[in-house]
Amino acid sequence: LPTQIYADSEQASVAVAHQIAELIRRKAAAGQMCVLGLATGSTPTRLYEELVRLHQQEGLSFRNVISFNLDEYYPMRPDSLQSYVRFMHEYLFDQLDIQPENIHIPDGTIAQEQVAEFCRRYEEQIRAAGGIDLQVLGIGRTGHIGFNEPGSGAASRTRLITLDHITRTDAASDFYGEENVPRRALTMGVGTILEARQIVLLAWGEGKAAVVKRMVEGDMSDSVPATYLQQHKAVQVVLDAAASAELT
Ligand code: F6R
Repeated sequence: LPTQIYADSEQASVAVAHQIAELIRRKAAAGQMCVLGLATGSTPTRLYEELVRLHQQEGLSFRNVISFNLDEYYPMRPDSLQSYVRFMHEYLFDQLDIQPENIHIPDGTIAQEQVAEFCRRYEEQIRAAGGIDLQVLGIGRTGHIGFNEPGSGAASRTRLITLDHITRTDAASDFYGEENVPRRALTMGVGTILEARQIVLLAWGEGKAAVVKRMVEGDMSDSVPATYLQQHKAVQVVLDAAASAELT
């Protein structure tokens, strides 16, 4: 996997923001929409801050952007403190000129018996938009991308999954205790993610160093779903020095 190692996450985030801005501008100049796949969590917050700055201070418009978020806890009310709907609006969408109808985030309020249909429609909406031009990913300590926990295969699609214990531990502080972390989530599948034309995976800090090593140097296997990125033709793994520390 091609890696780009920066001294710190600040420089890395700014560089990736500028790369995304360039793509949005290039698409706009060609009269095309730009379809972005987006992640939540602590990893992309500085990237989103820079995109907001580029909008507010350098005239970068998001009028031609269509977004699809990777995942959402299930069940989850959109107005909950921990919802990814709320996260995305707070860190990004509310500060941009993206058209509200172009924002897509899996709906954590959907009734259980309608989940399969909702997931099928989510995939359909991605296809109807022309597919994802650039997918932003983080990586969980379990090796998940999106919420594709160990056991998720390369052909998996958007669906309801059960969160790994480690993932729920990592989310515990956001929910004031692990017992409050939802047990399930809706997520794009590994197969859905691999269809993006370009993928940028970000990882910061020493806590990610071990899983980054497994993703980059390990054999492809569903025990670390992020290893399936090895089969994609246009993926960049963007790291800070600490996350790259175990690479040989
Ligand atoms: C979030 C997502 C997850 C996170 C991963 C890392 O939408 O899809 O895969 O990217 O859990 O989370 P952070 O960035 O909080 O370390």
